[in-house]
Amino acid sequence: MKIITAKDYSNMSEIAASTILERVKQSSKITLGLATGGTPVKTYNYLINDYKNNKTSYQHVVTFNLDEYTGMKPTNPNSYHYYMEKNLFEHIDIPNNQTHLPNGAADDFELECKTYEQKIAEHNGVDLQILGLGSNGHIGFNEPGTAFDTRTHIVDLSSATRKANARYFDNIDEVPTQAITMGIATILESKEILLLVSGERKSRALEKLLHGEIDTSFPASILNQHKNVTIIADNEALKYV
Ligand code: GLP
Repeated sequence: MKIITAKDYSNMSEIAASTILERVKQSSKITLGLATGGTPVKTYNYLINDYKNNKTSYQHVVTFNLDEYTGMKPTNPNSYHYYMEKNLFEHIDIPNNQTHLPNGAADDFELECKTYEQKIAEHNGVDLQILGLGSNGHIGFNEPGTAFDTRTHIVDLSSATRKANARYFDNIDEVPTQAITMGIATILESKEILLLVSGERKSRALEKLLHGEIDTSFPASILNQHKNVTIIADNEALKYV
């Protein structure tokens, strides 16, 4: 895995955004895998600023997000649909029908998972996947213990993850207990992966990713087996590496 050291969160976000922009400009058609959470917010900000200043077009871009909470309508401000609209999509020229997130309000989750996988396959998989890192090693919402061969599926969120994400809700009881996530095998099929890691809070997880064993107890560890992963991490996150 290639590691790029960034000074701080802003610098990490700037490097991530310029890598994404480079790929978007280079290609006539590209499928991006997108992440939510706190980490990529500023990366998306840089993309929005670039759009304002340089009008880089996203007409040829298709996106698939990693995950969504179950039981949440796209209009719910805590949904990842809403997050993506507000933090990126509504500010750039990407056509609505080219952005995809799992439907957390689907009636039939099994069907929703299958359909999501099919749609990704129809676009020949993800070209560039943006990933954040959970403190417990989760990628997407694939919690510790998830098999490496999983496709898009429903997960029970661990109490650690619910606690970590409670900051976005009024209280922890409002954090959903389940989510739909791309599986680990789905993520690993991306042709290129950019893992963004920022802050002290993630430093032990990054240490484990780089120096620990490849094991399902730490899902991100499987990234060591992917041929094209770049980690963009800031100094605080790299403190134990
Ligand atoms: C969340 C998301 C992940 C994200 C990770 C880290 O629960 N489902 O996609 O990458 O956890 O979140 P954050 O960037 O807020 O630390």
